[in-house]
Amino acid sequence: MKELRHLINITDLSVDEIYDLVKVAEDIIDNPEKYQDKCARKKLATLFFEPSTRTRLSFTAAMMELGGNVLGFDQAASSSTAKGESVSDTIVMASCYADIIAMRHPKEGAPFVAASHAGVPIINAGDGGHFHPTQTLTDLLTIHKKFGRFDNLTIGLCGDLKFGRTVHSLIEAMLRYKDIKFVMISPEELDLPDYMKEQLDDAGVEWKEMRSLDEAIPELDVLYMTRVQKERFFNEEDYIRLKDSFILQKKMLTPAKKEMIVMHPLPRVNEISVDVDDDPRAAYFFQALMGKYIRMALILFMLGVK
Ligand code: CP
Repeated sequence: MKELRHLINITDLSVDEIYDLVKVAEDIIDNPEKYQDKCARKKLATLFFEPSTRTRLSFTAAMMELGGNVLGFDQAASSSTAKGESVSDTIVMASCYADIIAMRHPKEGAPFVAASHAGVPIINAGDGGHFHPTQTLTDLLTIHKKFGRFDNLTIGLCGDLKFGRTVHSLIEAMLRYKDIKFVMISPEELDLPDYMKEQLDDAGVEWKEMRSLDEAIPELDVLYMTRVQKERFFNEEDYIRLKDSFILQKKMLTPAKKEMIVMHPLPRVNEISVDVDDDPRAAYFFQALMGKYIRMALILFMLGVK
């Protein structure tokens, strides 16, 4: 029997597989009618134990545009988790009813546990402060659509680099490409975790830390803003002190490269002022749209649909 494929971390996909997914997503954008019945009679379960707008809705829209159906829950409280059912039992149940599962959970490693009990492919839709591989695929498609390449880019990561799972997954993906430089812009308390810094060093990637967003902006091709992750803080006082550490305003983009793009996994709180939205470099709503197309490509890949 063929071994089930799961997507827990972005490195579960090879560079070649990621490239193929991006090419399929680009073909879906150009020829959506070719794909409209590809998942007819297939079911996606979206098991979200933590809030979401983009990830859950784009997975739902992706499966619907492939002609498939979607079932699931959008909070732990509306599932039998509220009665004490374990993640593993929940996954065994969902495997009975669906062909593929997208799961978000506040506990790091929960999708890994789920994968070891699942009878169908599991897609990690975000686990605590750990990983968010489908956001990274979204980010990669956005970068490819804007630059036509993945190499030779200087990427500024700004905000909460400690708890921001989208940042961790994006770093793991990008350090596999050539001539990538990272600029880490965060308050000291929200620095990138040491294990991630070690990964960068082991990969021989050029990176530095800066405390000023204004000083970093002129050298960047991509500015990746992130929200300070309120839900991961142990006390509210620290969150309030750090939450507005970096706020991007339109006037700050004056010295930026003309082709630079501003990305953000969203939701944003205060970290990008709304006056940036009409700047041609603002790419975050386009990025959210790309999330649907890459998830369509991913569902096809995980289900083995040609
Ligand atoms: N980017 C992202 O994961 O957004 P949601 O939390 O709304 O799904």
